[in-house]
Amino acid sequence: MSPRTVIAGNWKMNMTPKETAAFFQGFFPSFSGLTSPELIVFPPSVSLAAALRARPEFPQVQVGIQNIYWEASGAFTGEISAPIARAAGATHTLIGHSERRHVFGETNEEVGWKVQAALAAGLVPMVCVGETLQERKDGRLTEVILEQLEAFLPVLTENPEASVLVAYEPVWAIGTGETATPQDASEAHGILRGCMREALGEERSRAIPILYGGSVKPGNAAELLAAPEVDGVLVGGASLDPGSFARIAEAG
Ligand code: PGA
Repeated sequence: MSPRTVIAGNWKMNMTPKETAAFFQGFFPSFSGLTSPELIVFPPSVSLAAALRARPEFPQVQVGIQNIYWEASGAFTGEISAPIARAAGATHTLIGHSERRHVFGETNEEVGWKVQAALAAGLVPMVCVGETLQERKDGRLTEVILEQLEAFLPVLTENPEASVLVAYEPVWAIGTGETATPQDASEAHGILRGCMREALGEERSRAIPILYGGSVKPGNAAELLAAPEVDGVLVGGASLDPGSFARIAEAG
């Protein structure tokens, strides 16, 4: 287990600036603070400022961006670079979320470039990996997630001090109500950890939290968080409601 527990909320394409402010107003009183996980929320980029305005009341919550482009600046209409996201106050960035991979065609190679760009700008990447249902049925779990991991491991080797988080999100469990069992999560996390151990050494691989994501809810968060090798959770739908995100944070 990594030494810390991380609870992250991926709001996807939800939450206006006004709704973001309301979320924090609801979250602060709901969260008992009895546990002290590392908390990160990923609002849409236009709601980043609203999240940061709410944050001084609760500095434990860090704010990240859901996606970056790998170039630092230039003629890339509609894209946001890592230095711009960092200057706007983001500390973290999601990279390679399954929706980026499967809806927008993001490749493993692009994921590697984005991890490099994030680290160069001082953003902490949370890199998502995960297999589709067909890949799992075909017995290709290990092959697929290791290929996704190995696409950015060289960047971590070149940056020995860099902080990074990995999220295992089986595509078949995202937004479907189907959750991987704690055993499924442990198995996949163990595969990822073993590969990181070989590439980066025992100490560094232990310091990289591996989060589970895919239909995490208040009702299943505690058992997933208790599973071996699960260092945190990345929550989509259930992170939009301040009360349910607070219950999940308390399970950490
Ligand atoms: P979900 O999404 O919790 O709604 O399944 C998880 C994610 O996509 O990060």
